[in-house]
Amino acid sequence: MDINLIQAQIEADLSNANSPQALEELRIKYLGRKGLIAELTGSIPALAAEQRGSFGKEVNALKNRLLNLLNEKEKSLAGDSLKPGNADVDIGMPGIAPELGTVHPITRIIGEISTVFNHMGFCVLEGPEVETEHNNFTGLNIPLEHPSRDAFDTFYLKNYTNFLLRSHTSPVQVRTMKKHKPPLAIVVPGRVYRPDAVDASHLFMFHQIEGFLVDENVRFSDLKGILSFFLKSVFSSDIKMRFRPHFFPFTEPSAEVDISCLICKGKGCSACGRKGWLEILGAGMIHPNVFKQVDYDPKKYTGFAFGMGIERIAMLKYGINDIRLFFENDLRFLKQF
Ligand code: DAH
Repeated sequence: MDINLIQAQIEADLSNANSPQALEELRIKYLGRKGLIAELTGSIPALAAEQRGSFGKEVNALKNRLLNLLNEKEKSLAGDSLKPGNADVDIGMPGIAPELGTVHPITRIIGEISTVFNHMGFCVLEGPEVETEHNNFTGLNIPLEHPSRDAFDTFYLKNYTNFLLRSHTSPVQVRTMKKHKPPLAIVVPGRVYRPDAVDASHLFMFHQIEGFLVDENVRFSDLKGILSFFLKSVFSSDIKMRFRPHFFPFTEPSAEVDISCLICKGKGCSACGRKGWLEILGAGMIHPNVFKQVDYDPKKYTGFAFGMGIERIAMLKYGINDIRLFFENDLRFLKQF
């Protein structure tokens, strides 16, 4: 058999093969178990002894050339398939765009608030959601008879009676002061839990951010300055702020802080109940009893603390009227942030 003739035939066959299927057929025709190369190899024993060596070599060389040609053709077919119109798939067809997530509005607000305080020198800390009764209540000067300690107003852990789901982020004050000496300037974002019936403004789980600063000679005016800067940064530089006297066990004096209504700018509208003001947070000077619990000398150190609900801030800032929207995972709502 003339190897050169065979080679010419192979080349002609390959140049006519214009699809991966046609190429595969040729591979089988030449290299398959019953293909031409196998046939040639099988014929070697029948040859005269002195011909076997040189014929075997030629068959081998032919086989290698054939493999190279098949590879090259395969590559050029693959290249062709990328040209529009030649491919099995329409590569011009628009793809399926992956869904891009967005930052959850609560996470976004936590980031914004933390950043404002960070720029004023506050550190951001977190504490555990399962707290001791001591840190959540006693350490914060909340007396045994206080209604928030009632089983109806706090989630206690069934088999661990000294533990509960924290009802506010204030216990992180106690944790931090037990571990570190003043000066301290900390903000603490996180989840809190209360067994409240769910409605448009209540959930059994929500978020708060606590802040506190302890040093020598900290004054109420420091608190006012810090809160004024913070509220103007988060809402708008033209809001007004007012402090109403209030009671919290862990601060003395204590205040509730209002901002002028974002909608009517203080004139009175349905959003602010015609008051012109929106309640935004609680604050005050840290009570000496809180310092005593953590072995700080209340004669040496003073400090302020404040706490606010993050959902409420987000609702006011974005004009959202139902707190449940934050946690229903409705993408039509979440995609807007
Ligand atoms: N812990 C309070 C609450 O959950 C909020 C609060 C009020 C925190 C006054 C404070 C504060 O640090 O000084 O209602």
